[in-house]
Amino acid sequence: MSMRVFLPDSNATAELGFKLGQLLAPGDLVVLAGELGTGKTTLAQGLARGLGVTGPVTSPTFTIIQEYQGRCPFNHLDVYRLEDPASARELGLEEYFYGQGVTAIEWGERLEELLPCQHLRVELEYSPGGGRLATLTANGQHYSGLLEELKQSVSPGG
Ligand SMILES: Nc1ncnc2c1ncn2[C@@H]1O[C@H](COP(=O)(O)OP(=O)(O)O)[C@@H](O)[C@H]1O
Ligand SMILES: [Mg+2]
Repeated sequence: MSMRVFLPDSNATAELGFKLGQLLAPGDLVVLAGELGTGKTTLAQGLARGLGVTGPVTSPTFTIIQEYQGRCPFNHLDVYRLEDPASARELGLEEYFYGQGVTAIEWGERLEELLPCQHLRVELEYSPGGGRLATLTANGQHYSGLLEELKQSVSPGG
């Protein structure tokens, strides 16, 4: 199950994140894939708002992990600077994949072998005419249900 959404500007990216964040439940995992500058952090900031996080939400590129508290814990990870899955293991990142909070991980596709099979993948791409394209793919029934719900509040495109 998957869905494609056209995002004309960064507000649209944050809005998609917000709507998704409202639907996420403790334990959920969102993998944010896509080249540098495609909007992964922007989407994660929307997610945080949708989860009820009120303070500033900054890019975790240098810290790798940022933890927030909304209606449940929200862990924002960015593994761009990690060399390999072994260093992710050393940092204990797997704990976040199976924890009680919602976790969103930028460049998460690089850790494919460490990820639980069940997760939501959001792939962001530059759109040729400007803006971005998001492809959301549900891996597992729980996330299919989530996408069904999301479809009711998001207009498709691409
Ligand atoms: N749908 C969009 N259309 C145009 N610009 C966008 C869109 N979404 C995000 N941006 C902008 O792209 C830039 C990079 O976004 P960012 O979220 O930091 O990307 P990433 O985390 O993938 O590197 C920011 O200036 C952001 O405002
Ligand atoms: Mg980023």
